[in-house]
Amino acid sequence: MTWNPELYLAFEGPRFRPVIDLVQQISLEAPTRVVDMGCGTGSGTQLMKSRWPDAHFTGIDGSADMLAKARDADPAIDWVEADLNLWMPDTPPDLIFSNAALHWLDDHHKLFPRLLDMLAPGGVLAVQMPRNYHAPGLSLVNETALDGPWRPRLEAMVRQVPVQEPRFYYELIAPRVKTLNMWETDFIQVLDGDNPVADWTRGSWMSPLLNALDGDEREAFDAEYRRRVAAAYPKEKDGKTLFPFRRIFFIATV
Ligand SMILES: C[S@@+](CC[C@H](N)C(=O)[O-])C[C@H]1O[C@@H](n2cnc3c(N)ncnc32)[C@H](O)[C@@H]1O
Repeated sequence: MTWNPELYLAFEGPRFRPVIDLVQQISLEAPTRVVDMGCGTGSGTQLMKSRWPDAHFTGIDGSADMLAKARDADPAIDWVEADLNLWMPDTPPDLIFSNAALHWLDDHHKLFPRLLDMLAPGGVLAVQMPRNYHAPGLSLVNETALDGPWRPRLEAMVRQVPVQEPRFYYELIAPRVKTLNMWETDFIQVLDGDNPVADWTRGSWMSPLLNALDGDEREAFDAEYRRRVAAAYPKEKDGKTLFPFRRIFFIATV
């Protein structure tokens, strides 16, 4: 999938809040090696660097465009273009951090044990993923993709809900670690704009589907999705739109 930093950063404020919450809960005093998996434009990596300035940071991402922004902001960090499914550290890190990225990877029952195995003794895996797939902003992406003349082009790309129930992660991770701190937050995001929920998903869930279509068909699919989303999220009296968004967090120490 192609990531567009400008579209993604249009909602920088609400997208950064969970990064702060996750970093704050990590109890490591002075990690030596920190890896940010799916670092994107590197805002989380930089926040961690401000907390642990002496650590060595590696930011890994599959998007050259996202990494270019990250590199502009801090050339001193080791930015690596790689597929998270394949990347392996040379030296075991003390902290593997991942904000809003691992839901793009499949097979979580294999992924999380693999990440835990990469850590140095006493190391920490800190993860945040959206768990909002039944809210209309996201469910309407798949619903609209399967409900129109564009269906034959999009059907194979429609992803099933990638993030499981909290119990799944508890049962997978707790037996492998010393401590596990898990929580969920429902962020009530207050957004500006004409159809801001549709604009939000354009920078993420809608993007691969839009990229798979051309010309009039792309416009028609986009317009139909935007119509459905606008109806599902009516504006408040002050013109703002509420976009409630659930996210799951966990911090595991091996
Ligand atoms: C929603 S963005 C989050 C970026 C950043 N962690 C943040 O909080 O702003 C997801 C990032 O994961 C990256 N990503 C998704 N799947 C990937 C994969 N298989 N390999 C490498 N990067 C991937 C994307 O390129 C994108 O930059």
